[in-house]
Amino acid sequence: MFGKKKQVSTIDKDQLELIENAQKRIRQKKRLYIHFVIFLIGAVFLILANTVLGIGKDFTIAGINWFVYAIFAWLFIFLYHFVNVFITNKFMGKDWEKQQLDKLVNQQQQRIDKLKEGFLKEERKIAQSQAYNETHPAKESTEKKKTRELTIIVAAGEDNAIGKDNDLIWHLSNDLKRFKKLTSGHHIIMGRKTFESFPKPLPNRTHIVITRQKDYKAPDGVIIVNNLDDALDAARKDTQPFIIGGGEIYKQSLPFADKLEITRVHGTFEGADTFFPEIDLDVWKEVNRTTHDADADHKYAFSFITYERR
Ligand SMILES: NC(=O)c1ccc[n+]([C@@H]2O[C@H](COP(=O)([O-])OP(=O)(O)OC[C@H]3O[C@@H](n4cnc5c(N)ncnc54)[C@H](OP(=O)(O)O)[C@@H]3O)[C@@H](O)[C@H]2O)c1
Repeated sequence: MFGKKKQVSTIDKDQLELIENAQKRIRQKKRLYIHFVIFLIGAVFLILANTVLGIGKDFTIAGINWFVYAIFAWLFIFLYHFVNVFITNKFMGKDWEKQQLDKLVNQQQQRIDKLKEGFLKEERKIAQSQAYNETHPAKESTEKKKTRELTIIVAAGEDNAIGKDNDLIWHLSNDLKRFKKLTSGHHIIMGRKTFESFPKPLPNRTHIVITRQKDYKAPDGVIIVNNLDDALDAARKDTQPFIIGGGEIYKQSLPFADKLEITRVHGTFEGADTFFPEIDLDVWKEVNRTTHDADADHKYAFSFITYERR
């Protein structure tokens, strides 16, 4: 626990390389300096060897003493060394410069690749969320209205039939009782045709009727609107407004609904002219079901099924 800590270098690889190259450069200059000193001493020695010690006194080339050639040859070697240190190897050498440049280009390329990857990920996310919003328009548009549970209530046959000649196809007293129990005290939103299928407004519920007619007349207390959005707005203070039909309004409001209260009437109904849209089980999840057999009061067996949006 109290053992020696391993020394971790805080110098990164590039810095280390720079230091190593600077050291190499100092060594090169040192060697050049030593070469220069040796050359001076050597030149003096050659001159003395010839003039004082008389070594090769009589050896001349084109009338010039050999030591002059020797000194010039050495000077040439020294100059070559000098050029090598200060010109050829300038800025730590051409190879080193090239290496650094390649490295820099590589690093930049890696950064560009990373950025590209980031952009691609971002683009993919945007495209996915756009695609999601296109296929799930309801979620996005109802987000603002999430404080309430918009509920569709309907009785539909196995074939989704819900009406014929602007009337219901069956009479199921338990279904009507359940309808009354669930919707009482709430706003009920309906199309003009459904509204007109009632003998009079239903008690203890606020009716919102959707029509394109600008001067549609209805009894006091019935709210008339010209589109679904205004209907939802008129019911904004209700925590559970109900869409009660008919076919046109069910179809338009299904994408905005949070819950479905379906009475599935176990039968198929020839001649029906109005239908409920197909329930997509990828979107809706069944959360409750109770089944009733046919009896004296109920010509058809039926099930109360509750669905919630997944
Ligand atoms: N089984 C069930 O649970 C159940 C429940 C309800 C109804 N139903 C049945 O369904 C049938 C009626 O349904 P339906 O589809 O014929 O009619 P509906 O949906 O009740 O009403 C259609 C009317 O609503 C208005 N409307 C529709 N969309 C609109 C919009 N976007 N903006 C403004 N107004 C709009 C129009 O009125 P205007 O023509 O005045 O412009 C249109 O003619 C009946 O047979 C009824 O008995 C069954």
